[in-house]
Amino acid sequence: MTAKIIDGRKIAAEIRKNISKEVEDLKSKYNTVPNVTTIKVGDDPSSNLYLRLRDKACEEVGIKPNRLEFPETVSEKEVLNSITKLNNDKNVHGILIQLPLPAHMSPDKLINALDPKKDVEGLNPCNLGKTLNGDEQIVPCTPLSVLTILEHEKTKLEGKDVVIVNHSNHVGKPTAALLLNRNATVSVVHVFTKDLKHYTKNADILITAAGVANLIKKENVKNNAFVIDVAIVSTKDGICGDVDFESIKDVAGKLTPVPGGVGPVTIACSLKNMIKTYKNCL
Ligand SMILES: NC(=O)c1ccc[n+]([C@@H]2O[C@H](COP(=O)([O-])OP(=O)(O)OC[C@H]3O[C@@H](n4cnc5c(N)ncnc54)[C@H](OP(=O)(O)O)[C@@H]3O)[C@@H](O)[C@H]2O)c1
Repeated sequence: MTAKIIDGRKIAAEIRKNISKEVEDLKSKYNTVPNVTTIKVGDDPSSNLYLRLRDKACEEVGIKPNRLEFPETVSEKEVLNSITKLNNDKNVHGILIQLPLPAHMSPDKLINALDPKKDVEGLNPCNLGKTLNGDEQIVPCTPLSVLTILEHEKTKLEGKDVVIVNHSNHVGKPTAALLLNRNATVSVVHVFTKDLKHYTKNADILITAAGVANLIKKENVKNNAFVIDVAIVSTKDGICGDVDFESIKDVAGKLTPVPGGVGPVTIACSLKNMIKTYKNCL
């Protein structure tokens, strides 16, 4: 078997096309465009690259991206004060906090300070709690990207065995919630899992986001499985995911590449969420 390779760039382009149209319609109705601000602390190179790509995508669809940049040494209190100002600014329709943050800052504290209606990443406990309850309002962008890819491929989720390799608050846990909301049987595995292969080998759908190159090899994957590789790993040979792509493409039924798979769809899903927060603010 040779897996169908999912073209994330194509899916993202379709989403952006729909968003452009929606921004045009909203502009002619309300005479404003969505205006979003990203808070960035320090100078992490992968954050810089991601933000450049996302700002470009924003501009392409007519969303206005702004940045509030702080040096690595800024105090948590100063950033919290800025969040309060952005929450109260009626001309700001969405706020994002770029991770990672320096060690002296608590991401939870900053995310909890966001006005939930302006929380583009859907990570404020109010939005995460709603997602868990099945009331999916603003869903975190990466899990939404995984779901978008599955839906784009018309994948039946009910009763399917899904394994997620990642239990972070912004990837693994909300992805599990989205799939449980659709009646899949979900296992979430991580570094403390005793026998990773035991789970992955039985997965109809395998979603992996460990950030470990070649963690998932041919023998870890069930025949005809849908394998979604969320990870982005920088190596001396360039960017790759968790999956040993060359060997797995002979086993899996469908497979997302890195780069060009989940990443572009995540950026497009971030734009989708910007439209949601904009509408919340109207
Ligand atoms: N494509 C996209 O749009 C997108 C978006 C976000 C993130 N990412 C990528 O996804 C990856 C994960 O991001 P993250 O922020 O969630 O990172 P993270 O917080 O470090 O989470 C990594 C997860 O993988 C688990 N893990 C690590 N090594 C493992 C191993 N050898 N076996 C089993 N589980 C293992 C960790 O378990 P423990 O917590 O127990 O250590 C943790 O649950 C990164 O490569 C990141 O660049 C991609």
